[in-house]
Amino acid sequence: MATVLVTGANGEIGHGLLQAMAERGGHRVIALDLHAPDASVRDLCHRFVVGDILDVPLLRTLAAEHDFDQIFHLAALLSTKSEREPTLAHQVNVNGTLNLLELAVSLARRLGRSVRFLYPSSIAVYGLPSLEAKRAEGRIGEGAHLAPRTMYGINKLYCEQLGRYYSLFYRQLDAETPRGKVDFRGIRFPGLISAVTVPTGGTSDFAPEMLHHAAQGQPYACFVRPDTRIPFMAMPDAVQALVRLAAAPVERLSRQVYNVASFSPTAAELEHRVRAAFPAWSMTYEPDVKRQAILDSWPEDTDDSAARSDWGWAPEYDLDRAFDGYLLPGVRARYGVA
Ligand code: SER
Repeated sequence: MATVLVTGANGEIGHGLLQAMAERGGHRVIALDLHAPDASVRDLCHRFVVGDILDVPLLRTLAAEHDFDQIFHLAALLSTKSEREPTLAHQVNVNGTLNLLELAVSLARRLGRSVRFLYPSSIAVYGLPSLEAKRAEGRIGEGAHLAPRTMYGINKLYCEQLGRYYSLFYRQLDAETPRGKVDFRGIRFPGLISAVTVPTGGTSDFAPEMLHHAAQGQPYACFVRPDTRIPFMAMPDAVQALVRLAAAPVERLSRQVYNVASFSPTAAELEHRVRAAFPAWSMTYEPDVKRQAILDSWPEDTDDSAARSDWGWAPEYDLDRAFDGYLLPGVRARYGVA
């Protein structure tokens, strides 16, 4: 039975991850979130703690009470929200991650074994200089275009480096190197689309917003141009990626942070899929030039060959399967529509 800490457990990825862990078994989940859980989340946890990742005494108490084998640090402010409150974003996204890495390293040293640290990073770490460059570049690898233009992207890129530091070089000048280490593993996720939850404060939110508005019979004003293309992924694949990377033997991993990819539709292609399912739906395009500029700096697609060869990553949902086998049945069930 692995003891697992999940921060941001009440968020979008948290919902999916806790469900998957409960189905697989073998995990004792201690969940942490700023907000009290809904019943569907509470019942999946051994313990749910309402609290803040900036509360260092609380984190120390948790580390004293539980010998965590794995930490899934999901808590974060997304990119649009982070642009509106950059200082808060830095505090939560960077200082919060530093606090969790400190928790992990002190625990690893006390226990004399490694503590796995799973970190969702993002395509927001990339920053293409122009739409022309984005289109010319197409699919990009982990090392290219690391010049993000958002606070969130900068926070994520820096925390990837912090994780690498805690894994490989932490206190490298000390006379002795204790046995316990942080085993940091990051995944750069594309925009995620869930059938059961709606994100708040992201810039890729136009895709889930289209779907959830249509399913509820609500009109939608889409804040991007129809030709906007960024990578997306169905939530079960994001959860599968985290669980799979967490289980991979460390000697198989050639890097700390991996791209994962599944499909890259334009906004217009997403609209057509949603409209085919909900023909009476009313949607207009009302691009927000500032949010559009962020999307135009994110890649069209990412090269995930390292994840495929190192730890067997393979998405189960392409665009067809995502809509027909997960998103449409999921939102129809959620909102009780035919
Ligand atoms: N989906 C996130 C956002 O839009 C990016 O990781 O902020």
